[in-house]
Amino acid sequence: NLDKKSTYAMLHSTFNHLIDQTFDEQEKRSLYQHSKQPPFKPIFSVPPTKFKCDFSLNNIPLASKMINIKGNDTVYYSKKLTDSFSNIKHQLPDKYSSKLIDKMEVVDKGFINITLSNDYLVDSLRMWCIGKEDLNSVYQLSDSNRSSTSNAFSIGSTSKKRVLVDFASPNMSKELHAGHLRSIALGESVCRILEYMGHDVERISHAGDFGTPMGMVIAHALEIKSPFLRHIWDKDNKEIQQDITAITPKELSTLYSESKKKTKMDPEFNKKTLLTAAELQKGPPQQDGSGSNPDIYNAWLRICEASRIGFQNVFDLLKVTAKERGESFYREFLPLIVNELKEKGLAKESQGAMCVFLNGDQEDPYIIQKSDGAYLYSTTDLAAIKNRIESGKEWIIIITDESQKSHFEKVFSIATQVGWLDKSKTRVDHLAFGVVRGADGQKLSSRDGSPIPLIDLLNEAISRAIKASDIAKSFTRSEKMDLIDSTSRDLETKERLETKYEMDADDDDHNSSSSNIEHFKKIGMGALKYFDLSQRNASYTFNYNNMLAFKGNTSIYLLYSYSRISTLLKRANFNVNLLNLNEFVFKEFTEKERHLVFLISRFSDIIKSTENTLRPGVLCDYLWDVANSFHAFYESERIIGSDRQDQRLLICFATQRILSTGLNLLGVETVERI
Ligand code: ARG
Repeated sequence: NLDKKSTYAMLHSTFNHLIDQTFDEQEKRSLYQHSKQPPFKPIFSVPPTKFKCDFSLNNIPLASKMINIKGNDTVYYSKKLTDSFSNIKHQLPDKYSSKLIDKMEVVDKGFINITLSNDYLVDSLRMWCIGKEDLNSVYQLSDSNRSSTSNAFSIGSTSKKRVLVDFASPNMSKELHAGHLRSIALGESVCRILEYMGHDVERISHAGDFGTPMGMVIAHALEIKSPFLRHIWDKDNKEIQQDITAITPKELSTLYSESKKKTKMDPEFNKKTLLTAAELQKGPPQQDGSGSNPDIYNAWLRICEASRIGFQNVFDLLKVTAKERGESFYREFLPLIVNELKEKGLAKESQGAMCVFLNGDQEDPYIIQKSDGAYLYSTTDLAAIKNRIESGKEWIIIITDESQKSHFEKVFSIATQVGWLDKSKTRVDHLAFGVVRGADGQKLSSRDGSPIPLIDLLNEAISRAIKASDIAKSFTRSEKMDLIDSTSRDLETKERLETKYEMDADDDDHNSSSSNIEHFKKIGMGALKYFDLSQRNASYTFNYNNMLAFKGNTSIYLLYSYSRISTLLKRANFNVNLLNLNEFVFKEFTEKERHLVFLISRFSDIIKSTENTLRPGVLCDYLWDVANSFHAFYESERIIGSDRQDQRLLICFATQRILSTGLNLLGVETVERI
């Protein structure tokens, strides 16, 4: 049942069994002594290829050294283990996968080198060939169908969790900017990976619809009588009341920056923004005059509407979904939260404000209610975590930039102390990412220093993708042939043109379909997202050329590998359904074949580790390895017309599925040609 377990998991159970069978009580005790507590956990790694093995067991020699028995013989335990393996290899119960390991060797200082069996590799290759469902199609489904779609390659988690991923979460008083790409790319990928692993995922955008910036924009818009709010002061004009033309995201941005300037220069206006924000916290206006001021409330509704239009444009382009549950959702809970913290002795009044002092001292107060009664970002997040735990979430993941690290440490810590959060039952993660820098090393911004709207970056990426393709297209066919035949060292151009040539030759409608704007949207959006994810969570410098490069760890390179396989399979008229895979006999793998198949077998390990660490960048690196290994294989081994054509086409086919599955989990759509 290969699809249910990762290689790591099987190695672990096999070795635990082996250790149990091999060592006497005293020896076991000394091993436990090393690992502090039983059981002794074997630690495996994948060494560089020059070591000529698949995995290495690393901690046995360390254990031997520490225990210092048998004349400081560091290889004693390792030898005993490998000897025992050769003796009982054929009697290992099936669940320990006697088929898994071919060879175990003690090297150097007692490390054990492990080579996987051919049968095991063949089985995982077969599994990837048999899987019927392609994730690519899964993610083209509408959102409602998506989560219910199981997938053929599911590795299945041991425990399926109800997960909430809080990402995107923009402020509704302004446009999305470049930095939001990070939260969106990471959040979408984390959701896809967790869904793939069988978790029940809820995607929440914790939009900032409530804070001071909102008060600022509303106060300003009302003050200058911004035309988009004319229904507020022109209440008797029927026509205007019916005309609900929304403010554009750009206009909203202008209002935001104007009001920001005003706040800095005009203290009176600054006060007004705070009052306006506090007004909103009173909730919808009521008949009896309670609730917030109707004009402020109406302006708020219009601004939120306008923001939503802008957000949706970006989400649609990036093919991302998240349910908006803004800060205002928690409005009614806020006083209760403050009360509870007060009653439980966690919150105290200090200079009129309610604060939590986490270290018991009077320094570093964490304010949860201001002296004017207003609630803050902190209060909302405390309400949110309580609400999320109470609604049965077992794993809460919040994605923001790293400046909020200490905020979330405090939220988690308060939630624990007050008794809402029990980390043994609920996992909480704050995934923090660094800044996107411009060429000048500063936070990416336009010339006047304001943030660059995300929508502008997206559109630019699309037009650059089109341009890059036009350059490749501008060569005539004979120029392409020359380039391919020449001994050009410029492999990049050569490879690129070679694929173009292959495609032109066997597909006449290539030009018409690739000029399709959808095609370039896929390429452009994929490049941005992939580049971002491949940087892990570190800060990086934004550069279109690096993102759209044909060489290196980019989505373009992976899509190119993918399309190369498509072309190849098409040329060979390959149809996986015509092969009886269960009976297909694989010839002994050549070195290049084996390396690629080994990488295919690694998918389940990689995806499990990505699930656990929430670092899609690990998957990027893996896919890059796969693509490199594929190219090494493709460049040196004959495929079509070789005496093992079917075997090699199957390897290519499985590789292609690995690429498309992996890319889709990263939020990158595959294309048949690039
Ligand atoms: N709106 C916030 C921002 O733009 C991010 C919100 C993240 N989620 C949360 N639960 N605080 O920085």
